[in-house]
Amino acid sequence: MRFDVVSIFPEYLAPLELSLIGKARQDGILELNVHDLRDFATDRHRTVDDTPYGGGAGMVMKPEPWALALEPLAQASAADVPDPVNRTEAAALLDPEVRAEAGDRSGSDGQGSQAALVKPTLIVPSPAGDVFTQQLAQELSTEDRLVFACGRYEGIDERVLEWAADYFTVRPISLGDYVLNGGEVAVLAMVEAIGRLLPGVVGNPASLIEESHSDGLLEYPVYTKPSTWRERSIPDVLLSGNHAKIAQFRRDEQLRRTVARRPDLIAALDPALLTKTERATLAELGYAVVGGRLQRH
Ligand code: ADE
Repeated sequence: MRFDVVSIFPEYLAPLELSLIGKARQDGILELNVHDLRDFATDRHRTVDDTPYGGGAGMVMKPEPWALALEPLAQASAADVPDPVNRTEAAALLDPEVRAEAGDRSGSDGQGSQAALVKPTLIVPSPAGDVFTQQLAQELSTEDRLVFACGRYEGIDERVLEWAADYFTVRPISLGDYVLNGGEVAVLAMVEAIGRLLPGVVGNPASLIEESHSDGLLEYPVYTKPSTWRERSIPDVLLSGNHAKIAQFRRDEQLRRTVARRPDLIAALDPALLTKTERATLAELGYAVVGGRLQRH
């Protein structure tokens, strides 16, 4: 999988050279290229921002450096198309008219140019975007390429997003309901969350199955040696060697924890997918199925 990140602070992305993601890059499981937006500025001061039309606080990122930075990234994806016949066609895809025609043709003959027409996804981190979730990370981890456009100041001139939609599937994405100084920290989080789902990045794939959010619930608590520490003992069942009982204990803890910390996740569960025992635990925790949904009674 290939990631491209455009930012005015390329150094911000340095942590992605470390740990599991850094190792995955070395192993060739993922490629990550960071591009300095200022390299695409059109004046000698390398200006990337200007005052907002209509007035107001702060500065807005100018459109032209963004177009110049993103164009080659759209082209790179066209060149990546493996079939040489499609590749010629794909190179022309930067021209929206050619694109529209190729789209019509692939629609009519139902084959051939389809692969070339897949637009890479352009993620624009923004507090005004769709919220980033584990499910979205899963979805994005199946793509071949992701391009990230890190805004700063008051944001990027809106016309860039409209223009980019000709070449990319544009997705404004938010980490949550709070405001960061720019998109870089959000990209660090997203690349890590997406990258660790790629085969071979996390040593033991079982750990991906049992973690928080993988099944809509929070993770169960974990303990290690010593079994008693500062007069606190671990739950006895974990020393029982009874795997069924341990699994039951962990599931109950997941449910208990999710009820206490994230009742919104309980409300989003599909009761039809729960086992009888899970429904019984939830009943003890004060939940009943009402109109096909779990509700507190
Ligand atoms: N940029 C600024 N705030 C952000 C947020 N909450 N999520 C993603 N990108 C952002």
